[in-house]
Amino acid sequence: MKREIALVGAILLSSALAATSEPARGEGVRASASPASASENERCTSCHADIAAEWSSSLHRSAFRDASFARGYAIERLAFCRSCHAPEADPRDEPDAWSADHGVTCTSCHGATVSAAHDATPAKRAALGVRVCAGCHEFGFPEKDSDPRAPARAEPARMMQRTAAEHASGPHAQTSCATCHLPKVGEGASRHASHRFGITRSREALAAALTASGRRDGGAFVLDLAPKGVGHAFPTGDMFRRLRVVVEVGPDGAEPTARFERRLARTFGMVKGRRAEIEDTRLFGPTAFTFPLPPAAEGQPVRFRVGYQRLVNVPSGNRLTARTERVEEELVLAEGRVP
Ligand code: HEC
Ligand code: HEC
Ligand code: HEC
Ligand code: HEC
Ligand code: HEC
Repeated sequence: MKREIALVGAILLSSALAATSEPARGEGVRASASPASASENERCTSCHADIAAEWSSSLHRSAFRDASFARGYAIERLAFCRSCHAPEADPRDEPDAWSADHGVTCTSCHGATVSAAHDATPAKRAALGVRVCAGCHEFGFPEKDSDPRAPARAEPARMMQRTAAEHASGPHAQTSCATCHLPKVGEGASRHASHRFGITRSREALAAALTASGRRDGGAFVLDLAPKGVGHAFPTGDMFRRLRVVVEVGPDGAEPTARFERRLARTFGMVKGRRAEIEDTRLFGPTAFTFPLPPAAEGQPVRFRVGYQRLVNVPSGNRLTARTERVEEELVLAEGRVP
């Protein structure tokens, strides 16, 4: 595994060198550093102070400094990672302090200069709402023989993230990413598209996107889960995310008579020597989960809990196993009790 990563790193280095000819990460996202980047961004923030303040507490801003990223990056220190998490720097080297501190910044999405950002034709505006996002939110595993930034060439199972494809094939395809993720805030002249993007650390934002209710059906317990206003799978994006459903049956305050656990997640393994998805159990729409109750649990109350987990580790073998996985955080999104 270590050796494979080193090899992939070397190949990526050469593809980063070649990347200037192929703008595969969406318009506005550059593959190499511009010395003018810092000064152009200072200009944006001096005129658009509200937006700058929202952005400065977003995960886009801390995409390179964030502790979760830093932990993953310590294991796989690749140009590949830097090209999205510190996109203002030349990915061939460790980013300079400014690029590391600014992560995904104004010019990463709006284009390299003030005039590029202000020259918003309708086509450019439409691209900003979906295509620019897809440039970073849709990509394949880094492999020896393919460019991970050319997702069109990768099969769905070999995509590391595929939020744009999930969006394009789902019921919200006609609603842009920006419509949901940059809601209008403020009044009058200061009304603007919010750049706060706070989701994965917010229990409130995540819980608002899920309805959960339990019922009995003969000898079984049924948990109905439905995403609310989610434009893609729930969860989407980073592969180390999942929903965990726990169902426990038994008298209140006592050891459960029966316990069930389901993970709604993508699972990866090695298929013909390459990393690929082998199962996807995430929520794509309203889904009923049925748990057959053992006779001993008859008449006893049922408790359920749905948690959103962020995991720490990357798969080192064939799959994440209960023995090797480590949960960084679990936010409880829904809980209930059916008498
Ligand atoms: C000298 C002040 C100034 C600077 C510098 C500046 N802007 Fe603006 N920008 C404005 C004003 C004024 C508007 C029009 C009113 C509004 O939408 O806030 C505007 C509008 C915009 C719009 C909306 C364009 C549209 O489609 O209608 C975007 C996007 C934008 N700016 C981004 C940027 C970015 C990114 C930067 C830095 C690269 C930047 N601006 C630098 C003043 C500035
Ligand atoms: C240059 C790459 C890049 C572009 C372009 C980009 N993103 Fe991101 N986005 C990231 C990275 C990297 C993260 C994760 C940062 C982290 O957690 O370390 C992220 C995180 C997010 C999150 C989660 C934020 C949170 O607080 O949990 C959302 C939502 C998101 N992006 C939406 C969008 C949308 C919508 C667009 C297009 C308008 C977009 N992104 C464009 C790289 C990008
Ligand atoms: C992750 C991508 C992303 C980043 C980073 C980003 N923007 Fe934007 N910005 C967008 C999108 C998408 C829109 C269009 C929203 C819409 O259509 O409603 C937008 C809209 C704007 C607008 C017009 C707002 C309005 O409601 O009229 C301004 C001004 C702006 N951005 C400035 C900035 C500044 C300044 C920064 C840096 C502090 C920045 N943006 C960083 C994606 C981004
Ligand atoms: C119909 C509204 C809607 C649209 C359209 C939409 N999203 Fe989301 N998105 C949500 C909601 C609600 C959540 C919170 C639930 C969740 O985490 O999936 C979310 C979560 C996310 C997250 C956080 C990761 C996670 O844990 O799931 C990312 C990243 C993201 N969206 C990116 C995008 C991108 C990129 C697009 C466009 C290709 C997009 N979204 C389109 C509503 C939307
Ligand atoms: C093509 C762009 C791209 C590349 C390359 C990339 N990432 Fe990301 N990464 C993202 C986006 C976009 C997100 C946010 C998705 C979400 O929130 O669901 C993200 C999220 C993450 C997260 C989750 C952080 C959190 O806050 O929960 C970690 C950790 C991470 N990336 C590490 C890495 C590492 C390590 C590499 C290199 C091996 C890498 N990424 C390569 C785009 C990229």
